[in-house]
Amino acid sequence: MNLRKIVIAIDGYSACGKSTTAKEVAAILGFRYIDTGAMYRAVTLYFIDHHVALTNPKEVNRALQQINISFKVTKNNTSETFLNGLNVEKDIRKMRVSENVSQVSTLKEVRVAMVEQQRRMGKEKGVVMDGRDIGTVVFPQAELKLFMTADMLVRAFRRQRELLDRNQLVDLDDVMDNILQRDKIDTTRTESPLRKADDAIVIDTTHISIDEQVDEVIRLALSHMMVIR
Ligand code: DC
Repeated sequence: MNLRKIVIAIDGYSACGKSTTAKEVAAILGFRYIDTGAMYRAVTLYFIDHHVALTNPKEVNRALQQINISFKVTKNNTSETFLNGLNVEKDIRKMRVSENVSQVSTLKEVRVAMVEQQRRMGKEKGVVMDGRDIGTVVFPQAELKLFMTADMLVRAFRRQRELLDRNQLVDLDDVMDNILQRDKIDTTRTESPLRKADDAIVIDTTHISIDEQVDEVIRLALSHMMVIR
């Protein structure tokens, strides 16, 4: 029996545990983890810092040509995001980026550029990619598609704790407002809105631990990876 490399697409709302699960699953399977939200966040950071006018497609395109996003596995064995050679992993998680990222992600020019890069990154398979449009747009042929959800309050608590771990104390109400706002923009935008792919498996993480989420995804992944000879 051999194990083949597959593409695992994990989509879902903000703060449902997608990236935590994706990261661990990738480590266990020896796959590459690609956090596509981090790519949209890096673009947003660049746009904020360079005062790019979102309403001007020419300016947006010009800015996109100046942007190079990459991931590097750092000393502590985590994949971190680099923008034009600079480690921006911490900066892209700050509220000023979170408050603008969904708006930036509605832009067609931005999506075209990111999707192209994501397809290139996943070409060789053996990847776990999380985002909003992976199973529907980036890799509609992915062998395993998951759609993660969780109760609003649980999501807000988890995100608040995550921010606290990074020394950012944010009011629960503000965290919740930001999640609600992003859900709304992500699901109603014209360009590849967040939706469950018809063949995606739903995982509700409200009442399950990270370990249980990971176990479930590994079980599903192995069933797609096994090739009987
Ligand atoms: O996964 P995240 O919360 O870090 O994503 C940040 C934002 O990026 C999210 O609100 C919407 C956008 N995004 C997207 O439009 N498409 C993706 N594939 C991933 C993220």
